[in-house]
Amino acid sequence: MARLTVEELASVLSLDEFESLAQQYMTPAAYAYVAGGAGSELTVAENRAAFNRIRLNPRVLVDVTSIDTTLNLFGGKYEYPILLAPAGYHKLVHPDGEIETVKGANLAEATLVASIFSTVGIEQMSAASTRPLWFQIYIQTDRGFTKALVERALASGCEAICVTVDVPVNGPRDRELRAGFKLPRGVERANLSSLGTAISAASHRPAGRNIYAATHGADVTWKDIDWLRANLPVKLLLKGILHPEDAELAMKAGCDAIIVSNHGGRSLDTVPASIDALPAIAARVAGRVPVLLDGGIRRGIDVFKAIARGAVAVLVGRPYLYALAAGGASGVARAVEILRTELEMTMGLAGCTALDQITERYLL
Ligand SMILES: Cc1cc2nc3c(=O)[nH]c(=O)nc-3n(C[C@H](O)[C@H](O)[C@H](O)COP(=O)(O)O)c2cc1C
Repeated sequence: MARLTVEELASVLSLDEFESLAQQYMTPAAYAYVAGGAGSELTVAENRAAFNRIRLNPRVLVDVTSIDTTLNLFGGKYEYPILLAPAGYHKLVHPDGEIETVKGANLAEATLVASIFSTVGIEQMSAASTRPLWFQIYIQTDRGFTKALVERALASGCEAICVTVDVPVNGPRDRELRAGFKLPRGVERANLSSLGTAISAASHRPAGRNIYAATHGADVTWKDIDWLRANLPVKLLLKGILHPEDAELAMKAGCDAIIVSNHGGRSLDTVPASIDALPAIAARVAGRVPVLLDGGIRRGIDVFKAIARGAVAVLVGRPYLYALAAGGASGVARAVEILRTELEMTMGLAGCTALDQITERYLL
C-alpha cells in the first residue's frame, strides 16, 4: 500500500493518529514489537497517565506575539527542544530504514539520536544527515569493539555519545513474544556486522531461561563510564536514569547530560513514569548539567510539562516510528511539525514566550 502523501499527511492532526495509521503498513509482529513494553506494561501506561494527571496553571494578558522555542545546548542552537530518541531496526517499518528517518529529520531540522541497533550503518546515516547525529550505544561485552564503534561514530561526525544504561539484562516482553516477533531476514544490526551474524542478526531475544542478550554487556558498571569519559572528545550523556543518586554518580563521572528515561516502559516494569521521576532528579542536579526526558511524549503540552518539571528538552520514540511507517521521511517531518506547533500553542496559551520562562509556576 502506498504511504501517505504530503497532502494526506497534512490532515493527520495528532501523534496518536499516526499509531493507528501505521498499523496498515506494519506486520502485526513489528507493531507488537514497537508498541509493546515490559511485563504487564504498567509503566507504558503510566508514562501517559502521569502526563495526563498534570494540570496547567496559565497566566493571561501576556504579550505572546513572539514565541521563541530556541534551545541552547552544549554550545549549539536547537530550533526547538524535541529530539528523536534512539530506536533500533527502522527497516522493520520502512524499507529504507534509517536513511528515510534521517531524511525526515533533515526536513524537520531535528536532531536524531542514532541507535547502535540501526539497520543502516552509522557512516551511511551520518553521510545522509544535514546535521550532526548523536550516537547511542549499549556498551558491548567486547570493550575493544565498543571503543572502535565509538571511534567510527566520531569519525563519521557524530557530536555526542549517549550510553543507554537501563538494559543490563532482558525484561519480559510478553506482547512481542506472543506475536512471534523475530528480526526478519535482511534486517540486521548493521553496526555490529563485524561481530558476525551470530550477533548482528541474532534473534532479538534469547529463548528459554536465558536472561542475557549477546548484544548488551551485563557487566557494565560506572568504571566503564569513567573509561569512556577518559577517552571521549565529545559530549557524553547517560540515558535511563531514574534515581537521583545515579544522577549524582553520572555527574561525578563527568557526564555532560542526563536523560531521565524508563526506556518507554520497555525495560523494568512498574518503575514510575519518567515525568514523575524527573522532579527529584532535577532538584538533585540543580542545573549542574542539562536534564532531558523521554517516555510518553505525545503532545506539545507534554513537552511543556516536562520543561516545567525541570527538563531542558525531550525525546520522542514510538510516534516518529509510526510516522515513518505511514509517511516515510515526510511522515517523520509531519510528526515533528505537529509537536512543535502544539508546543508553541501551549506556550502562547499559558503566557510564556521563551523556554526559560516555563517553570513549575505554570503547573498546579
Ligand atoms: C521500537 C523501539 C526501539 C527502541 N530501541 C532503542 C535503542 O536501540 N536504544 C535505546 O537507548 N532506546 C531504545 N528505545 C527506547 C527509546 O529511545 C525511548 O526511550 C522510548 O521510546 C521513549 O518512549 P516513547 O516511545 O513513549 O516516546 C526503543 C524504543 C522503541 C519503541
